[in-house]
Amino acid sequence: NQLAHVTLTNYSKNEESRELIQKALLENDFMKHLEASQILTIMDCMYPTTLAQGCCVIQEGDDGSTVYVLEEGSVEVTKGERKLCTIEPGKVFGELAILYNCTRTATVTALTDIKLWAIDRQGFQTIMMRTGLLKHSNY
Ligand code: CMP
Repeated sequence: NQLAHVTLTNYSKNEESRELIQKALLENDFMKHLEASQILTIMDCMYPTTLAQGCCVIQEGDDGSTVYVLEEGSVEVTKGERKLCTIEPGKVFGELAILYNCTRTATVTALTDIKLWAIDRQGFQTIMMRTGLLKHSNY
């Protein structure tokens, strides 16, 4: 299969960022059910990105493929005209479209300049898949 040939790239991070990402993943309702090794690998593979205040990070209805952890600044989550919440550093967002294989369920807008860690669908699914394969080969 295609995922077997994906090379996972590690992006270096200081200890503070490593802890912030791991904590964010462990606090997220879905991610917390992953294995500890998967959490670590996702953390290692997340790459840094920044956006300016006012930028749209995620547009409701789009085909989305990136999961984010907010490191600095804040973002607002809206659905149509309705404001759902504000997200502060140390939180995961953008996970629902990948997990449920649906379009983006809400719009996410940068309220300030923001610093994010990101992982794309291919890396994320490779990590899920490889651990699954390793497990399977243990029998
Ligand atoms: P996703 O659907 O991929 O893209 C939009 C993101 O906004 C979504 O993942 C969640 O991470 C986040 N989101 C959607 N609805 C809510 C909500 N009611 N409260 C907080 N975050 C939300």
